[in-house]
Amino acid sequence: MKVTVSRRAHFNAAHRLYRPDWSNEKNETVFGKCNNPNYHGHNYEMIVSVTGKINPETGYVIDVKVLKDLIKSEVEENLDHKNLNLEVPEFKNLNPTAENIAVWIYDKLRVVINDDLELKVTLYETPRNFVSYSGEQ
Ligand code: NI
Repeated sequence: MKVTVSRRAHFNAAHRLYRPDWSNEKNETVFGKCNNPNYHGHNYEMIVSVTGKINPETGYVIDVKVLKDLIKSEVEENLDHKNLNLEVPEFKNLNPTAENIAVWIYDKLRVVINDDLELKVTLYETPRNFVSYSGEQ
């Protein structure tokens, strides 16, 4: 019997989507407003879900306090109020799209959450646009 425990969290961050090897026109066409050279912010919302067996001793799949603290230390401290392109090394040469940020969050949390537990990250860039990643290759 597996149960999923989820925690919602958020961070604010700035980004710009562009490829230096593309023309201005092509960047504008593909990335639209997210190509603004002066950067712009998003209020990102995320849902981190952990699935696994209930520990018979505690009755927990994962202690949500532990999950909350891991999201804070691994994700919020690194992304909140940051310029993702300039301040997060992985996005120096990788566009900080919602897809790539979701993978980044997953990778950070995957190494600190027990291997017995499945992990899924859903990231909302806007209330209507969201992506999710659970480690598929
Ligand atoms: Ni954007």
